[in-house]
Amino acid sequence: MPLAGRRGGSLRGRARVPGDKSISHRALLVGLLTVGASEIEGLLEGEDVLATVRACAALGGALERRGPGAWTIRGAGIGTLLQPAGVLDFGNAGTGTRLAMGVVAGHPIEATFDGDASLRKRPMRRVLEPLVRMGVSVVEESEGGRLPIRLRGAQDPIPIDYESPVPSAQVKSAVLLCGLAAPGETTLIEKEATRDHTERMLRHFGAEISVTKQGAHGRRISLRGRPELTPQKIVVPADPSSAAFPLVAALIVPGSELILEGVLANPLRAGLYATLREMGASIEEIDRRDEGGEPVVDLRVRASSLRGVDVPAARAPSMIDEYPVLAVAAAFAEGETRLRGLAELRVKESDRLAAIAAGLAANGVEHEIAGDDLIVRGRGRAKGGGTVVTHMDHRIAMSFLVMGLASDKPVAVDDASFVATSFPGFAELMSSLGAEIGA
Ligand code: S3P
Repeated sequence: MPLAGRRGGSLRGRARVPGDKSISHRALLVGLLTVGASEIEGLLEGEDVLATVRACAALGGALERRGPGAWTIRGAGIGTLLQPAGVLDFGNAGTGTRLAMGVVAGHPIEATFDGDASLRKRPMRRVLEPLVRMGVSVVEESEGGRLPIRLRGAQDPIPIDYESPVPSAQVKSAVLLCGLAAPGETTLIEKEATRDHTERMLRHFGAEISVTKQGAHGRRISLRGRPELTPQKIVVPADPSSAAFPLVAALIVPGSELILEGVLANPLRAGLYATLREMGASIEEIDRRDEGGEPVVDLRVRASSLRGVDVPAARAPSMIDEYPVLAVAAAFAEGETRLRGLAELRVKESDRLAAIAAGLAANGVEHEIAGDDLIVRGRGRAKGGGTVVTHMDHRIAMSFLVMGLASDKPVAVDDASFVATSFPGFAELMSSLGAEIGA
């Protein structure tokens, strides 16, 4: 489905973007491992999370939708999962796949994991490697450790001490979720702190987790295995990675002013917000509060003159999904923005580094890839007029639609259908604020 963003009036109003994708996956999977009924409010009902809903049902969970975003999941506890009858198809969702691998890994069952053409290209060995150490058998895998993959979980999972070679919350989460079923203590060491929603969620459900600092930017996380998890109520905050799209749109479309409600303000997800403020963005916090173990805020954002900045590589884990839309903001800034240390972008839903560069090129934005860095030479405007190839990547699609809202000519994307993986209703929400997004 092609779509285009074009210049119109300013963006105004209030909006709440859908629930956080990372927290939604975790609420379901931890609920599945808990005896009794957990209630989730604000669950993201995007395709990625719905794939996890189906996987939880196939693994023995009882799920009920009580209303929009309101779900109940009844689990039978750690160690009780059923062997799924069919393939667990995760569609486009890397998070669902890798976290569910960790869950299956701690149970003596076999399961086949598969996904769409984008997911089949993504590396899975980063997760299989520690899980094999914990006792998992890889029954079948495709070339290069790609999906489809069939796993046999461990009869008696082994608690390990594991230092992750990649800064990935998905790898960390897979190890911790498998560690739930292991006796004793499972420890994960990360050199760079990554999003900590799994740790927070497990603690919320009653698991014993200790976190200490490791080196300059890292953490050491230890989980006591076989905890008794108790059912909880979870309120999923609005996804800051989705809020990023209307937020950047409001910054670059002259005269705009928006309020974005209930946005997750976890510091390990806040890199984009810090960077935009350094660029001169007017982003004001109105009401900071706590919801279900996570901090949330309402944000007031106003159109701003942006200037280029140097974004350090150490910030990457806290804004890993936001580089496409930051590159768009950088195009509308004055001067050079250098985004450092983007190697992980090459293994996302698409090769995002290449996809961003191609999108900038198609719309007349001067830029350069230097090793793992992207340099965008901002001129305070973009020509637009190009069609961007999205490569089944929701965030590439949304970022360039946002670019079109402030470019001289419209910006088209070849296929916006994957937007529904993380942000169902994106075009409608943007239109309700005054954006011109349409065929
Ligand atoms: C996620 C972690 C990140 C991120 C993804 C969601 C998570 O991936 O890109 O969208 O929920 O744990 P990596 O852990 O592979 O960096």
